[in-house]
Amino acid sequence: MPATPCRVCSGPVREFFDFGEQPLSDAFPLPDQLDGEFSFRLAIGCCESCSMVQLMEEVPRDRMFHEDYPYLSNGSAVMRDHFRAVASRFLRDELAGPDPFIVELGCNDGTMLRTVADAGVRHLGVEPSGGVADLAAARGVRVDKRFFEAETARDILAADGSADVIYAANTLCHIPYIDSILRGVDELLAPSGVFVFEDPYFAEIVRRTSFDQIYDEHFFFFTARSVRAMAARHGLELVDVEELPVHGGEVRYTLARTGAREISPAVGALIERETRSGLTDPTTLDAFAARVNQIRTDLLAFLRAEKAAGRPVVGYGATAKSATVLNFCGIGPDLISHVFDTTPAKQGRLTPGSHIPVRPAEEFADPYPAHAVLFAWNHAEEILAKETAFREAGGRWVLYVPELHVR
Ligand code: SAM
Ligand code: TMP
Ligand code: ZN
Repeated sequence: MPATPCRVCSGPVREFFDFGEQPLSDAFPLPDQLDGEFSFRLAIGCCESCSMVQLMEEVPRDRMFHEDYPYLSNGSAVMRDHFRAVASRFLRDELAGPDPFIVELGCNDGTMLRTVADAGVRHLGVEPSGGVADLAAARGVRVDKRFFEAETARDILAADGSADVIYAANTLCHIPYIDSILRGVDELLAPSGVFVFEDPYFAEIVRRTSFDQIYDEHFFFFTARSVRAMAARHGLELVDVEELPVHGGEVRYTLARTGAREISPAVGALIERETRSGLTDPTTLDAFAARVNQIRTDLLAFLRAEKAAGRPVVGYGATAKSATVLNFCGIGPDLISHVFDTTPAKQGRLTPGSHIPVRPAEEFADPYPAHAVLFAWNHAEEILAKETAFREAGGRWVLYVPELHVR
């Protein structure tokens, strides 16, 4: 197989898993819109030079991020609290000087920046998905409806001056043209400023075998080692790392200009842990691939047995992640009758590629099924707490990471 060049260093990328043809994970078609659904080959590899884990093929950005992009940061109480805490910390530690300025890439519906706006601090959200950007504006957040890249950074610098903080949550890993982003950051960041981003941590994906974190929008899977190497190419330094419990295990990376900040011992410690565990060694990645195949076998066997026994199975959470599971396993409405979800823009539509009807979460109890596959497993605590009546009625949750289990 010819090696694809790494999007960070142009080195050779070794593919370690192919999920086959996949749809856009967030494109929920109406029942009469099934013709010409977009698809691409979802495969993942690791760069043999800089160790960056990445997709082998890129989906054009306008196909994913547009007026109707349905993901809302505001949709989870846990994430609302998380972003309120993030904003408060920035306000205290980084934005306490004279006339501070913070830029958020992928501000979505303004869940983080509204706290900054309420504090009267200068800010700008850069958000290309028009629908969610309008929600941010309605919350009093100043938004620029463009894709952030080197050019956008130049315009922001000219209009607003340099930024003390550039922040991106669950956004940087979505951007294949990361070189342009880092050039933009290099232009826009104040001399003593920080670029802080948080994204799913590849070590957690391997540890939990959470292969469903791999889908069109998640292009990069960062590690402390690969981020440090990437930063160095742009005169930036990885000065801090923090592990976060959200979204199935993330890391918050803090970058500063080389020499501008003290490097926390946490950076060396995390890289040491990654090296010791052989995180991106071919043996580790091949073992991960074998576990993914096992999960597919087990999940299909479970669903077929339930169907044979005449017991209904539904899905809970029409997540972007579920697209990978459903399409990789070949699961359709014959095996999972409905998926319940709180997002209005997904309800009344079908899951991408697998075409399972999405219904409002309130209808989950109407009547309760025997089993519900928890596709939103990253929100398990929140969902299990509000759906206690389901188990009381005899229902059971089905989880497929780190392996198939019923609880
Ligand atoms: N930051 C929010 C959060 O963590 O809940 C939203 C994350 S959402 C998964 C990713 C967001 O990144 C989308 O709203 C998308 O429109 C935005 N995005 C994608 N490419 C971008 C770019 N080049 N610049 C700024 N935002 C971008
Ligand atoms: P995410 O995994 O990308 O955050 O998406 C979560 C999806 O799960 C989103 O479509 C909303 C849905 N969801 C529910 O249906 N009920 C809930 O309680 C939560 C937290 C999310
Ligand atoms: Zn590389």
